[in-house]
Amino acid sequence: MSGQSETPHSELSAQAERRGGRRSAGILISGAGGEVGHGLIRALSEAGHTEIVAIDLREIDPELRALCRETFAGDICDQGLIGRLNAMFEFTEIYHLAALLSTRSEFIPETAHDVNVGGMINMLRLAVDQARSHGRRVRFIYPSSIAVYGMPDLKTKRSVGAVKEDQYLTPTTMYGCNKLYAEHLGRYYARHYRQLAEDRVHDLLDFRCVRYPGLISAETLPSGGTSDFAPEMIHAGAARTPYRCFVREDTRIPFMTMGDAIDATLALAQADESRLTQCVYNLGAFAPTAAELADMTRRFFPDADITFAPDTARQGIVDTWPEDVDCSAAASDWDFKPSHTLESAMRDVLVPRISERYRAG
Ligand code: SER
Repeated sequence: MSGQSETPHSELSAQAERRGGRRSAGILISGAGGEVGHGLIRALSEAGHTEIVAIDLREIDPELRALCRETFAGDICDQGLIGRLNAMFEFTEIYHLAALLSTRSEFIPETAHDVNVGGMINMLRLAVDQARSHGRRVRFIYPSSIAVYGMPDLKTKRSVGAVKEDQYLTPTTMYGCNKLYAEHLGRYYARHYRQLAEDRVHDLLDFRCVRYPGLISAETLPSGGTSDFAPEMIHAGAARTPYRCFVREDTRIPFMTMGDAIDATLALAQADESRLTQCVYNLGAFAPTAAELADMTRRFFPDADITFAPDTARQGIVDTWPEDVDCSAAASDWDFKPSHTLESAMRDVLVPRISERYRAG
């Protein structure tokens, strides 16, 4: 990918000239075309931000593009593109969302490493270069995942229940390993970057990270993840298409709605720094079994045709993820409180909006 700007070069040069060669202020969002990116761009735009700079491998939807100052179709591993972003904008905030999810990463682990770790290094390097050049700290918001956990066996998973941020960090997937290491990289760049260099500049980054559970969006469907069975099941119920669930009925992991995930991400981004006691925070709202999820789906969509046909390998991954996560640190440090249970999420958000989507075709 060559990192094509979707705005013509001539127009970009004209804009730069009008600014007298000065760089424009920006909030950078990588992986902006993905599920979280959609929600985040809408929320930032509704909050009055007009300086969003969005990058994704694929061209950003026109509807989202209209909410951004600039959009780029390109690869975060492309140093040339990162250099151009550095030259054109002054970023005060970076939301680094781009990643290959857990299922897809198991087919192409080295590519996943390049994107999930190499891309993270590129974005962190961009952030510190930016902070050095404009003289202000850059806030770097990073979504990590329940995939960083690795429960040793089902017996332990069931007896332990909700895990804290520092427990069971032995992931078994490439994605989980990448996310856990990327969390460490963020902390390193924020606190220890070039710690022995004579010209070291302290305190360039304000790194904040959330570990998302499985996310359920009404507007989009995920692809390439292993928690995808929940959104797939609910969307299939609404679309009246049969769904063969790839995990066992007794499988339990935490979830939350996309809306709650976006709200929490923005709440952490805006939280008073003096209250933050850690860089990384668990998030979650409800933790049903796949059977409970199927029952809830049938309650709202009585024709839903759901069967269980576990895929041994994908089941193996979900079995290493915890039954639930302990969100008490997020609750006490920045007042995290999800607004939905599974039932209220279905009744108030997912069922009405997803039904609308399939009615509209
Ligand atoms: N949704 C992610 C995945 O399934 C987990 O964070 O890969």
